Amino acid sequence: MKNNRDNFAAMIGRFKGDGPYLHDGDRVMIDAASGTFNLPFGYTHPRLINKLKEQIERCAHLSSAYTKPMAENILLQLQPYLPTGINRIWLRDVSGSGAVEGAIRMAQKYTGRSGVISLFASHHGQSLATATISGNAFRLANFSTHIEGSFKIPTPGSVLAGAADADGATANVIDELEDFFCYGSSGNVACLIMEPIQGNGGNVVLPVGFYRQIREFCTRHDIVLIADEVQTGFGRTGTFFASTGYANALEPDIIVFAKGAGGVGIPTGGILMKEKLDVLAAYEHSNTSGANPLSLTALHETIAIIEDERLLENVQHHEAYLRDALLDLQEKHPLISGVRGLGYMFGFDTPSPAIAAQAIDLAAQQGLIIRGSRYGKGSAIKVRPPLTCTRPHLDDIIQKLDRTFTELERADHPLQEAI
Ligand SMILES: Cc1ncc(COP(=O)(O)O)c(C=O)c1O
Repeated sequence: MKNNRDNFAAMIGRFKGDGPYLHDGDRVMIDAASGTFNLPFGYTHPRLINKLKEQIERCAHLSSAYTKPMAENILLQLQPYLPTGINRIWLRDVSGSGAVEGAIRMAQKYTGRSGVISLFASHHGQSLATATISGNAFRLANFSTHIEGSFKIPTPGSVLAGAADADGATANVIDELEDFFCYGSSGNVACLIMEPIQGNGGNVVLPVGFYRQIREFCTRHDIVLIADEVQTGFGRTGTFFASTGYANALEPDIIVFAKGAGGVGIPTGGILMKEKLDVLAAYEHSNTSGANPLSLTALHETIAIIEDERLLENVQHHEAYLRDALLDLQEKHPLISGVRGLGYMFGFDTPSPAIAAQAIDLAAQQGLIIRGSRYGKGSAIKVRPPLTCTRPHLDDIIQKLDRTFTELERADHPLQEAI
């Protein structure tokens, strides 16, 4: 037993964060994936950590009977960053999956309908319902559940393929969406959910015209439009939410957030919605640890730090630098193509999932953490540094990426036989 305890201490004690850096024993890596895309400040941030320590010494749990005013306080903090008309919060989740489910429930109760429209290659969570509506069939191979009236639509094809005629592809998808809705569904649709930029699907940046047409479709058919900003929220794309920046044409009825909202990885998740969608009774969607004092503290302080450290400006200021540096790598390396992204949310393609996996391993050996897509089944690689990163950090990331791909492309690299 004692051995087991010592083992655990050694296992977890091996890791230590320091801003964007992760120490794994003697190895130091810069994390260009911000953990699981949930560390806008990297692994540590002294101001936030101190607030968390103070709070854990007071209490780590309060029942929801006490926390509602604090949730309202956070809504006030967020209000300047919300699209017009979104003025309510539901803060009873500790994960993105939970918050997405809550948003679907709101749409179902409000419309009296059931179905969810979602996109190919989308990712909305881990629970049965959110996995079902996500656009990756392989995740459902061994499980079954169905939300009556739901269907999925293609993500504009040329965008997934990284090709040119995005507007043409968008028009086709919208026509097909009308057809699916009119001929291929019972009309029993409550909501359409989409990520403004598909994260797990491969950092898929959709054309602005697509957002506008989706908005028009939802208005035409009185369907609730949910922006899943679990990845894009809290500054990732250079505005607080993508729905008030690049994707403002979406004009969502509901925004779901999680991941980065906890600053240094404290689990939290929430729903922001129009007043008319504030329809749930507490017993219809709640979790024991939703809005616990640690996640409330993390949320409150994360918003304040983003403001005080002018992190949105930091991301906006460095966006072009990061994009140009990645485009330079694309020029130099035949294994890199399709550089795309916004803010600190970039991605590019490699020729295959196997090459992406090799690149991720080699990068780790160079002291760089990057992540792949679609649970290793995609060929994209994502570069999403913490929002606190400045130019020297970006240079470090780019140099390590350069070394990684130089190594991969070496004539005598074992992978060359497979290419
Ligand atoms: C867009 C999106 N929505 C929802 C989720 C689910 O969030 P969680 O893993 O916190 O349940 C994720 C997680 O990766 C996500 O990327």
